Amino acid sequence: MDFVDIHSHLLPGIDDGAKSMEDTIALISKLDTMGVQNFITTPHVLGSVWQNSSDTILDKLELVQEALEKNDLGYIKIDAAAEYMLDEQFCKLLKERDLLTIKEDNLLVEMSYFSAPVNLFEMLFDIQLAGYNPILAHPERYNFYHQKFDMYEKLKNAGCRFQINLLSLTGYYGPAVKKTAIKLIENNMIDFAGSDVHHEKHVSALQKLGTKANLKLLDPILKNNLQFL
Ligand SMILES: [Fe+2]
Repeated sequence: MDFVDIHSHLLPGIDDGAKSMEDTIALISKLDTMGVQNFITTPHVLGSVWQNSSDTILDKLELVQEALEKNDLGYIKIDAAAEYMLDEQFCKLLKERDLLTIKEDNLLVEMSYFSAPVNLFEMLFDIQLAGYNPILAHPERYNFYHQKFDMYEKLKNAGCRFQINLLSLTGYYGPAVKKTAIKLIENNMIDFAGSDVHHEKHVSALQKLGTKANLKLLDPILKNNLQFL
């Protein structure tokens, strides 16, 4: 079936994902053989670590589209948005409305794996006030919420939608993340899925995903991703 991958790091040399154009083409080729031909790739925009702008991202996207043509992969559809860390720089970009969205107004955001920003709910409110719809990347990976499941409910009630990482179901990030991922899906709290592929190791690990149980869990979520075609 068709799958639109709405979270990945495939643009070369602008974050901790693909390092070179060769890398980009190799990753996309391998994902293609696994049946993924539609991507909205999402480089990090993260404080002073990955200071990407809409311009740097869209320039790289164009180069990738050209390289795909040259490598007989012109049928691959790739667009770009970003994965925004909820930090001070993000607040500035939000004020300027200088943000790349996943189809129309969907904004992929993440937070630190150590703690949530103190003003998290204020930020989510401001995002929506500015006319964007927040999607929280990999909620299952925020270990500080694993024993506070009600926080997930609070986030959903605050208008945040959730994107699960496919690799979480393979146990790639450990048993606690896998358990939370399943619990979130079983509670109908996951809206979308993404590969979050950074490198070859991630693509190889994805090959373990296709168990009957996983496919059953993921089916409605993968279908929901099709709205981004
Ligand atoms: Fe990511």
